[in-house]
Amino acid sequence: MLRSQEAASIMPDEALAPREPSIFSKTHAFMAPGAFVPDVIASGLYPYFRAIERNEGTRAIVDSREVIMAGSNNYLGLASDPRVKEAAELAIQQYGTGCTGSRFLNGTLDIHLELEERLATFMDKQACVLFSTGYMTNMGVIQAITSKNDIIFSDKDNHACIVAGTQVSPADTWRFRHNDINHLRRLLEKAGQERPEADKLIVTDGVFSMSGRIARVPELVAVAEEFNAALMLDDAHAVGVIGPGGCGSAAYFDLADKVSLTTGTFSKSFSSLGGFVVGDRDIIEYIRHMASVHIFSASMPPSCVATVLKCLDILQEETWRLERLWEISHYMREGFKSAGFNVWTSQAPIIPVVIGSNMNTAFQFWSDLLEKGIFVNPVVPWRGAVAGGLSIMRTSYMATHTDEDLDHILEAFRHVGRHHGLLGNGAM
Ligand SMILES: Cc1ncc(COP(=O)(O)O)c(C=O)c1O
Repeated sequence: MLRSQEAASIMPDEALAPREPSIFSKTHAFMAPGAFVPDVIASGLYPYFRAIERNEGTRAIVDSREVIMAGSNNYLGLASDPRVKEAAELAIQQYGTGCTGSRFLNGTLDIHLELEERLATFMDKQACVLFSTGYMTNMGVIQAITSKNDIIFSDKDNHACIVAGTQVSPADTWRFRHNDINHLRRLLEKAGQERPEADKLIVTDGVFSMSGRIARVPELVAVAEEFNAALMLDDAHAVGVIGPGGCGSAAYFDLADKVSLTTGTFSKSFSSLGGFVVGDRDIIEYIRHMASVHIFSASMPPSCVATVLKCLDILQEETWRLERLWEISHYMREGFKSAGFNVWTSQAPIIPVVIGSNMNTAFQFWSDLLEKGIFVNPVVPWRGAVAGGLSIMRTSYMATHTDEDLDHILEAFRHVGRHHGLLGNGAM
């Protein structure tokens, strides 16, 4: 046998050098010069992971400059409300900064239970369970409620966390064309013929996060009843936004009692972090005990819970906020349209302005808007965020935007749109 010194002297250097596991080779391709992300960074127009230095609701400080925020989901304008901040601070004094455990064991506070009761009542349902984010809510609910031989019918434009839920579920997923009830019906008929024993769940965003389109809840309810399927709505952009009192997309159509499960997030209207699902008591208790992300992940921090409780109070007391949000949403949609922009299928305070298929134009457009003091979210056809290969400037509004803010945003868009030759030609 060779002694180690002799062995080393006859081995090539590469054989001795620690080799990187091959699984990481894709990361080098991702970051190689000329690849998408390094290319956009090199152009100086990379718009993502931008640091915001201060947030004052409709105003933010970016690169030491004040901008009008038209790219947040702070629909009710409560994220920097002094009453909400005070409630969060008081919760930290009483309960500390974090729960350091899951709801199942040491992470349940009395305010978690209070919030669950408040939300069940608010949504006119028997029961509610909280999750630590909206993403985890949809993942957790779908994973918990579906089993091996079931079929999930999922809208093709559903949010990524619904897709993640279908991926962790042992059930099969059949995707239907976006908002296409006829296609859904055909898939349900097919399931009836080929898999008559399968239990069925239909799942859709209540308001679609990129287009601002409201789901066709009445037709979904009818088809779900006809085929004995459960209907689940992800109301992340609907609770605190649409429906009487902000009770969401089913209430908007006066159909709350016909929908089995409604999920929501606290990261938008409720200016916090966390999520929830409401439904009948047994279903909710089952989810509470069976959703892995609920049992095996730490619960919502106290300040986040107190924030939501305070936002809920304000939503119910200050009804002008929802009225103003809708007034703004109508004003902006009409303003963009009359300037000659294409606002896709928007029906909510999410108003996408279609830029076209050229991503570089989109990044330049975004940068020109920022230069004019307007912060929006550029969404390009990368990683499938928007269907149909479209680039959009996703704009979204707060009840607290002033008329002057809105006119300023429209004027900046008109100016930049004219510069890019986008006005009046449908911007496609
Ligand atoms: C439709 C939809 N569902 C769920 C989520 C996830 O919510 P959260 O930010 O609470 O994880 C989002 C967030 O963007 C969303 O748009």
